[in-house]
Amino acid sequence: MSDELLSPGPILEISGYYWKTCTLHAAVKLDVFTAIGTTELTGSDVAKKIGGDQRAVTMLLDALVAMNLLEKMQNRYGNSAAGRNFLSRESPRYMGHIIMHHHHLVESWHQLDRAVLSGKPVRARASVSSEEWRESFLMGMFNLAMNLAPQVSAKVDLSSRSHLLDLGGGPGTYAIHFCRANSHLQATVLDLPTTRPFAEKTIAKFGMDDRIRYLEGDYLEQDIPGSYDVAWLSQILHGEGPDECRSIIKKTVAALEPGGLIMVHEFILNDSMDGPLFPALFSLNMLLGTTSGQSYSEKQITEMLADAGVRNIHRLDFRGPDDSGIIAGNV
Ligand SMILES: C[S@@+](CC[C@H](N)C(=O)[O-])C[C@H]1O[C@@H](n2cnc3c(N)ncnc32)[C@H](O)[C@@H]1O
Repeated sequence: MSDELLSPGPILEISGYYWKTCTLHAAVKLDVFTAIGTTELTGSDVAKKIGGDQRAVTMLLDALVAMNLLEKMQNRYGNSAAGRNFLSRESPRYMGHIIMHHHHLVESWHQLDRAVLSGKPVRARASVSSEEWRESFLMGMFNLAMNLAPQVSAKVDLSSRSHLLDLGGGPGTYAIHFCRANSHLQATVLDLPTTRPFAEKTIAKFGMDDRIRYLEGDYLEQDIPGSYDVAWLSQILHGEGPDECRSIIKKTVAALEPGGLIMVHEFILNDSMDGPLFPALFSLNMLLGTTSGQSYSEKQITEMLADAGVRNIHRLDFRGPDDSGIIAGNV
């Protein structure tokens, strides 16, 4: 056994990692990075701006410097490149929504032992939670997809396709990027009624209202209206159990024209289900928030697609952050 495995260091690091998590969450919640912006401020200046206690704010700022999210010059604090690019609301690459979504999940994660014993969720689904939680969930999806969708749309050839279904498309980020990359493409985002305002705002912000329509619907309760030649199912299957996933895929296949392309984007587990790390942890996140959701392996997704009559099933040469992958096939 190596010395590293005999040392308690790695276990202590895992056990205490949430101190860093909570420091970041508090700073984003208090909007420290936006308050500092492109200026250099003292602890007292920042305390006044965010309405906090000077000593406590200064301790928070010093910890953020230690985490490389701020920089310290004498007694003044400025944003680091990471803080400026991703944590200030002024930046187009602001990631605060997904960080606040993670913050909202903490309450359920600290009850993981309860969920493991009961096998039941300990939090409500985002679609039925408060407006504030829903906003950070849906706009958090926007934060994640904004970093990924340009890469995905460059990788997938939709030059021969004319109408894309973005099923459970949330704010419509992928539909927007597929349409940007393919000037002839129209898209339909089908999602729950509660998602509509976020999607419409996002679609309008990108000037895509004339090419992307929003369709209110529930893919568990109803068939999918319309006819499409490509369907994109991104990060929706993990919210459901295997039977529901099969039903969603069958409904999608029924809405596709012959020769249509179906693509499933998920955090994909190894066939042994014990890695990579993020999809394995994400499965627990689904245990905490759904009755039967989980991460799936490539084999499981492939079988679900094959059962619905999808042919030519293959994994695209694409690996997103946190081991997301795309499995595609034709009907
Ligand atoms: C994790 S988000 C993924 C959003 C988007 N596809 C992406 O990858 O960024 C899951 C989406 O599925 C939607 N959704 C969940 N259950 C649904 C249902 N029964 N019918 C339609 N949409 C649903 C949610 O509202 C949410 O927008």
